[in-house]
Amino acid sequence: MNILILGSGGREHAFAHAISKSEHCQELFVAPGNAGTATIATNIDVSVTDFEAVKSRVLKHQITMVVVGPEDPLVQGISDFFRDDETLQHVMLIGPSKRGALLEGSKERAKEFMAQHNIPTASYASFTKDSLAAGKTFLETLEAPYVLKADGLAAGKGVLILDDLATAKQELENMLSHSKFGAASEKVVIEEFLEGIELSVFVLTDGKSYKILPTAKDYKRIGEGDQGLNTGGMGAVSPVPFADQEFLKKIEERIVKPTVHGLQEEEIDYRGFVFIGLIKVNNDPYVIEYNVRMGDPETEVVLPRIQTDLVRLLEATYQQRLSEIDLQIDAQAATTVMLVSGGYPEAYEKGKEISGLAEVKNSLVFHAGTRLEGAKAVTNGGRVLAVTSLDSDFRKALKKSYQNIESLHFDRMYYRTDIGFDL
Ligand code: AMP
Ligand code: GLY
Repeated sequence: MNILILGSGGREHAFAHAISKSEHCQELFVAPGNAGTATIATNIDVSVTDFEAVKSRVLKHQITMVVVGPEDPLVQGISDFFRDDETLQHVMLIGPSKRGALLEGSKERAKEFMAQHNIPTASYASFTKDSLAAGKTFLETLEAPYVLKADGLAAGKGVLILDDLATAKQELENMLSHSKFGAASEKVVIEEFLEGIELSVFVLTDGKSYKILPTAKDYKRIGEGDQGLNTGGMGAVSPVPFADQEFLKKIEERIVKPTVHGLQEEEIDYRGFVFIGLIKVNNDPYVIEYNVRMGDPETEVVLPRIQTDLVRLLEATYQQRLSEIDLQIDAQAATTVMLVSGGYPEAYEKGKEISGLAEVKNSLVFHAGTRLEGAKAVTNGGRVLAVTSLDSDFRKALKKSYQNIESLHFDRMYYRTDIGFDL
């Protein structure tokens, strides 16, 4: 079949890499893609949220499977758009319906879903401009640090964790009354702070059954030792060493099963990935957030460990036959290290020539923010390349990535040298 992947990051290059190896994939397209996807697929210059343009390309290229990378098109209802259009009903779109995508699109909705289905999470209350005073009073009942979350999508920036009550009250007002995160902060969820170590679990569900994919831990801060500003993710490790069988069993029983059951009970059409951000408090898992897509850079360590043909897996998801599939996972560990543009996550320059790609051995280089300029790959984003390696343990895998990084170069390239430092 002909397959289209929507998106342009390292996650989408990792999807393209796995899908291009499948015997079930004839022609592969990525929209808009990057310089890396261009080497294994045909890039098409279409925005992921321009549904009409996506439709015309799907029909033109006789595409029968669409894999949606980022959350925006899902939250905007691309899955419903495909299901409601007679000419697209034969297309297997991998990703939840708009109602399903609200688990990421609205923090309040996610909290309500978890409360409804007895899924462990931090206690919370939500407020709007009209209840600002009540919000400030609620903050007084909590202990520091204070967790404020813009309800809607805010490009990963909508969560504030504040040590002091006066600042927390001021920020609550900034969010609700002064549109700090635009429409996304018209509603704010205030949460109890949970202390622990974070990890992510990825689940593929057809809405009835599910497969638990490898766990991963990402490193969000720009600086060594998890210091400095938050980024999209500077590296990742899979599996997560501290998530042993017993802990994974708790995650499955207390979180994964009730989540899938909840989707079913609420008759939500959900055929896609659930990325569950978790925190381990003492020895118990709590949900920090749901995402309705795969993570980036987590995908760059999760997919290379999946040995089952990805197209078969996705087809079974769409056809609600996931329970028939035997999921095979590589026992090796995978790590990825992200090479970023100097200045990221604040202002940075683009268009820097990338060299050394051909010298990389025994690692996979997934392009995150790159584009082709003639025949050359140049930087085109904050996160530029993800260097993934596999080996018997994550330290050996990391060593391979760091060795290969020595041959890669672009002006003002930066990366963290301490991925996995806390494990
Ligand atoms: P989110 O966008 O919901 O994943 O939140 C961003 C980050 O804020 C998470 O990765 C956590 O590090 C942190 N965080 C969110 N909620 C809490 C909480 N209730 N307690 C402690 N940390 C949190
Ligand atoms: N790495 C975090 C995310 O994809 O949201």
